[in-house]
Amino acid sequence: MRVTALVPAAGRGTRLGTTVPKQFIALNGKPLLLYSLEVLDSSEDISGIIVAAQAADIGTIRDLVREYRIRKVVDVVQGGEERTQSVRNAFRAIGTADYVLIHDGVRPFITRDIVQRVLSAARQHGAAISALPVTDTVKVADGDGSIVKNIDRHGLWLAQTPQVFRYSILAEAYRHYDEHPVDITDESGLVELTGSKVKTVPGSIFNIKITREEDLLLATMIAGMP
Ligand code: C5P
Repeated sequence: MRVTALVPAAGRGTRLGTTVPKQFIALNGKPLLLYSLEVLDSSEDISGIIVAAQAADIGTIRDLVREYRIRKVVDVVQGGEERTQSVRNAFRAIGTADYVLIHDGVRPFITRDIVQRVLSAARQHGAAISALPVTDTVKVADGDGSIVKNIDRHGLWLAQTPQVFRYSILAEAYRHYDEHPVDITDESGLVELTGSKVKTVPGSIFNIKITREEDLLLATMIAGMP
């Protein structure tokens, strides 16, 4: 069974305020992107990895892949304006695959265990994502920040990556998307629109997405954990 991992890493990281795109920021001496590439590379379940990057970074990523001896990267393709387009460009570069795993290049703390759990659920159900149940109280506020209403958090989940889909299910989701384009921020959302069921698998609070400056401090702490 062939599982190809797609790693979008073409973001510009404008919210972080650094000059280096966040996927290249050194975390305890190692570029952030390399954390997830190493885990995917060492996961027995993963057959190949395709990274999507900004055109100007493709060479840098190829060099890093060589330097860190990541054996399973088969391609580094150009990303798009939005994350969804970057993932799709990587999807187009797949030769053959039975399952597709998608993981944000800026979530360094994916583990082999999470990969295995989400993949196992996808094998059973066709589509599965790692996600966390919402534990905070959820409110809706207007443009001034004044609360308008509360939302019952029961049944609410925060979607993370990895997300895993049977190849044919994701291909069908892209066909559907071409006919009915929508603004959606993850591939699970595209698959859900086709009517396919997507199973949630408990993710990890440590599997954070590096978005804001404080996330880097958190990431340094997580990276130093025993
Ligand atoms: O923007 P955000 O932080 O949600 O990005 C999540 C992931 O998508 C990151 O790994 C980022 O590099 C990637 N991305 C991309 N192409 C874009 C925008 C984001 O590959 N155009």
